[in-house]
Amino acid sequence: MSSTTNNNNNNSKEEYDDAFTKAASFAFAQVFPAILNAAIDMNLFDIISKAESSLGMSASEIASKIPKQHSEMGSRLERMLPSLVARSLLTCSIRTINEDGDTERVYAVSPVGKYYTSTHHDEQGGSWIVMSTITYQGCRHIWKDTKDAILDANNHNHFQKVYGKMAFEYMETDTELGNLFGQAMSQAGSLGLKQVLNAYKGFEGVSTLVDVGGGYGQTLKQILFQYPSIKAINFDLPHVVKNAPPHPGIEHIGGDMFKTVPKADAILLKHVCHNWGDEECVKFLRNCYEALPPHGKVIVLDALLPEIPKSTSFKDTQAVDLDFLMFLVNGGKERTEKQFEKLCKTSGFSRFQVACNDSSNVVAVMEFYK
Ligand SMILES: C[S@@+](CC[C@H](N)C(=O)[O-])C[C@H]1O[C@@H](n2cnc3c(N)ncnc32)[C@H](O)[C@@H]1O
Repeated sequence: MSSTTNNNNNNSKEEYDDAFTKAASFAFAQVFPAILNAAIDMNLFDIISKAESSLGMSASEIASKIPKQHSEMGSRLERMLPSLVARSLLTCSIRTINEDGDTERVYAVSPVGKYYTSTHHDEQGGSWIVMSTITYQGCRHIWKDTKDAILDANNHNHFQKVYGKMAFEYMETDTELGNLFGQAMSQAGSLGLKQVLNAYKGFEGVSTLVDVGGGYGQTLKQILFQYPSIKAINFDLPHVVKNAPPHPGIEHIGGDMFKTVPKADAILLKHVCHNWGDEECVKFLRNCYEALPPHGKVIVLDALLPEIPKSTSFKDTQAVDLDFLMFLVNGGKERTEKQFEKLCKTSGFSRFQVACNDSSNVVAVMEFYK
């Protein structure tokens, strides 16, 4: 009996300690994004991944590869690298450097950190580099006064309030942000798609596929690699397709999905529904319905919001954070399975199904059948 009492006491002390540490870490949560983005700006992941020793590089060796040099560079780097180790982006080991037994830390890029190297982008077709930059630096003005997005009854779109225009309209004039966004979507978008294409076989038998809101056509490029016989149309706003590189088998068409959508036997909407509220989604989904033959389908790729987010799930955390980002930037939202089904039926489609929802991928695949 006394051991049960002790266990209970231990549990509550552990719970208390856990709550205390977690709460404290949130108070300093702003520090890590600053470090990650400084590391990206200095190309640290690329520099460290090219280490000659398999153990990695010391801070002073990393410092020697940075174009701008000064004598304190190594010791200053030593102040930020451990934070990247604590977040699993780098690994760290200790190396003895002289006969007196003095040691130094040696850093290497971990499997997580590889997603922030340009080689990962070149070899695996994607990375999180530009997405991180645009979320941290490109969106920095929207992080200010975030509470107004909730409290101010007249603030229906936080991005518009801050920048004076809706996001996609604004990016037409701020070409630097627009290009950064285009790059971020094509670099990051292809990462989740690789997993989707391994699991989802719904592109088999499709003869014409339109990617509505397809950006620079990166998604279609990947799909065509696996399904080369598909006739592919990349449909996006005229100022976006203007910058889309030509690719064999892909026709780029500029237009407005709220007006009309090119005809096809399947239509892809990847990370498009989440940019919009329900009313707007129903408008372009009805245009998709019109563009499809009988029994044609819309393939929706988006996050699926959990009914109750689990604090232990990276996927759930990412989905709910994306939801808030969409709310701030576009007045859009991520959706639960039930909300997607409702959207499907309200837009006139006869059948809804979740075709794929991998636990390690925030992107799920849903099908809306005509
Ligand atoms: C979040 S991005 C998704 C890009 C791409 N599908 C992907 O997953 O990488 C949304 C896309 O919708 C496009 N878009 C926004 N409004 C549009 C409209 N009215 N008609 C067509 N495309 C539009 C944007 O230009 C942008 O490329």
